[in-house]
Amino acid sequence: MKIKKINLGLLGFGTIGSGVLKVLQKKSALLENKLGVKIKLKRVCEINPTLVKKLKSIKVDVCKNADKILEDPDIDIVIELIGGIHPAKEYILKALRNKKHVVTANKALLAENGEEIFKTAKENGVDVYFEASVGGGIPIIRSLREGLIANNIESIYGIINGTSNYILSAMSEGGVEFKAALKDAQVRGYAEKNPHFDISGIDCAHKIAILARICFNQKVKFTDIHIEGINDIELSDLNYAQDLGFCVKLLAIAKKAQDSLDIRVHPCLVPKGHLLANVSGVYNAVFIKADLIGRALLQGEGAGALPTASAVVGDIISIAQKIPQDSQMDLLNVKAVNMSKKIISVDELFTRYYFRFTALDKPEVLSKISSVLGKFKISIYSVIQKGRQRSQAVPIVMMTHEAREKDIRKALSQINKLPFIKKKTVAIRVERI
Ligand code: HSE
Repeated sequence: MKIKKINLGLLGFGTIGSGVLKVLQKKSALLENKLGVKIKLKRVCEINPTLVKKLKSIKVDVCKNADKILEDPDIDIVIELIGGIHPAKEYILKALRNKKHVVTANKALLAENGEEIFKTAKENGVDVYFEASVGGGIPIIRSLREGLIANNIESIYGIINGTSNYILSAMSEGGVEFKAALKDAQVRGYAEKNPHFDISGIDCAHKIAILARICFNQKVKFTDIHIEGINDIELSDLNYAQDLGFCVKLLAIAKKAQDSLDIRVHPCLVPKGHLLANVSGVYNAVFIKADLIGRALLQGEGAGALPTASAVVGDIISIAQKIPQDSQMDLLNVKAVNMSKKIISVDELFTRYYFRFTALDKPEVLSKISSVLGKFKISIYSVIQKGRQRSQAVPIVMMTHEAREKDIRKALSQINKLPFIKKKTVAIRVERI
């Protein structure tokens, strides 16, 4: 078998970058024997001095100037693991214009600037692979694009932020509040020092924008996605949900609607018996509903050096096998670039809701709340009030029947202004999965 030689240039040597190097070192013989491809990491660009020091012991060519990779004619594939929009975007565009294939884990960049990146790749006859951008080690992108290609995907529901899932699991299993669970996640290295993107739902939204585009062959305007995080969830909500037969999960949802797409990220009540309810800790999972396969769940580690490196190396191999043939595959289906369905406003959502009111414990409170709900045609399914504290605020938990979100918002805005309501009402949607 003739061995093909492929040279790589790596931009960024953080957790994933070091994982990629480890995997390449450990698996090079296996890849060579199995696939007939010899992969060499020619150069690494890194500016952090501590990480550069680490690299010196590995004896790989290190540079601080990305052009040494982007302009090197010997480098076939550029691996971008810097993250964020700038300078990653400029580096990727330059690599593509210099006819280099790109492998990236950069979900923010693809979700927000995907059109420009894919257009540039197409114009230059090269590919961008991005399996590591969603779900770490779970081969979700490859599954949607290849294994499930004959399916009409109806909807996907993802637990695709390990940090949030860890926090929610730690709260419900350890009986701790959000702040303590977040601290625990940071101590264990699951949450970043600045966990804003993870807990606010933005990281999930980046990932669902990428998945939705593949599933539905549509452009997805990131700014139209409704995003809520887990910041307002309290331990008591998880306990009440448990009593009601649910658990709370931060879900990234993408569904095909008639002439539009329904894409949103927010906490949801998920019935305890559902497969997604049992995905806990830092695990990620994507639940898919499609015409041929019915229902399927892909689950695995959504972050970490080796699971993510597994996705990156898988992409490198996929590209390496195609070089030098001119077999560029339109990875995100180029036809999709011209198609654009509107993302429906969350106001149009029609679902059941969980409310936790914080109200003074006195007569007529419930009747006044129900009267506002009645005015907006919101029907109550059940109410729980535990404990009694004269002239103090107590939680009142209510489940509704299905109602329109815009009516829910109007009703809650009026209810929150009632004099006996002492805190903003918590509302969590119940998703029928
Ligand atoms: N920060 C992400 C998470 C992992 O917590 O799931 C990388 O996408």
